[in-house]
Amino acid sequence: AFIAHPVYSNHKHLDFNSIKELPESHAWTSLDDQNPPGSHSCGADSVPVIDLNDQNAPDLVGHACKTWGVFQVTNHGIKKSLLDEIEAKGKGLFSLPIQQKLRAARLPNGISGYGVARISSFFPKLMWSEGFTIFGSPIEHARQLWPQDYAQFCNVIEEYEKEMQELARRLIWLMLGSLGIAKEDVKWAGPKGDFKGAGAAIQMNSYPACPDPDRAMGLAAHTDSTLLTILYQNNTSGLQVLRDGSGWVTVPPIPGALVVNIGDLLHILSNGSYPSVLHRAAVNRTQHRLSVAYLYGPPSNVQISPLSKLVGPTHPALYRPVTWTEYLGTKAKHFNKALSSVRLCI
Ligand code: SIN
Ligand code: FE2
Repeated sequence: AFIAHPVYSNHKHLDFNSIKELPESHAWTSLDDQNPPGSHSCGADSVPVIDLNDQNAPDLVGHACKTWGVFQVTNHGIKKSLLDEIEAKGKGLFSLPIQQKLRAARLPNGISGYGVARISSFFPKLMWSEGFTIFGSPIEHARQLWPQDYAQFCNVIEEYEKEMQELARRLIWLMLGSLGIAKEDVKWAGPKGDFKGAGAAIQMNSYPACPDPDRAMGLAAHTDSTLLTILYQNNTSGLQVLRDGSGWVTVPPIPGALVVNIGDLLHILSNGSYPSVLHRAAVNRTQHRLSVAYLYGPPSNVQISPLSKLVGPTHPALYRPVTWTEYLGTKAKHFNKALSSVRLCI
């Protein structure tokens, strides 16, 4: 069932369509991860759902960021038809034959393209998922996948990026506003607060139905190395967040809603007021799950450090300044250590 990468034969990909049993390479135990699959929360705790048209939205967002690090939003301004379109494009992509998908494979050290979960190299077992990352123009890879009609795919991606960028900006100011931060307090956001030069990527994730879901991991536990991530999930649940005292809490799909989670760089920027949330994706026996993450971060040359308004005699800066690139390098080196060491404590 393993198919070799056409160029790099040491890269193994699974042909999920042809596989009827969970291979040992994909069977996780508590030895492989301190958070093995199958552990669920039984509490009544649930991730906040916030209507962005609610006049209390700023307070609700601030509270959710402090206490959960994740929330869902409705009335966010992204049309249902666009979410349906991106879902259809993702489904079309992942249903292509594996050999065709591999024509658009991500190269070693590359960012864009088709491949296994990006965090795979940090874990001893493989994950029950495949992904497609878009950073910059998707044209090259889209042409390899659909030599004739790649343009349709690119058009949807372009519109999705435009809409998501606007929503990401709006959410960041809402989040920072709740901490008493105004646009002029974040110099690198530019005079209009539009985060010119911000980095963004789209990560499509596919989780095929799995013959042994309790031993398989869709995506292992991680925090996002972003400012924030906006996630669309189709009607199949799988996303779980780790909650102090409650264990893994499922984030149920709500039609038309989007999940927003705090990334490590907003954790640093907020001097720890908004903790980035540990999350993972579980798989299930019967349904194919699809998610599309919009990853939003600062311009690559900007040093992120705790905002000066959030630092004072009683609140010393907890993290040292770091660019996005430096942060990714440090995180890769320390992935298996406690998260606090990853976050570059002073
Ligand atoms: C992710 O963490 O990037 C995706 C999680 C999901 O598929 O729900
Ligand atoms: Fe994530």
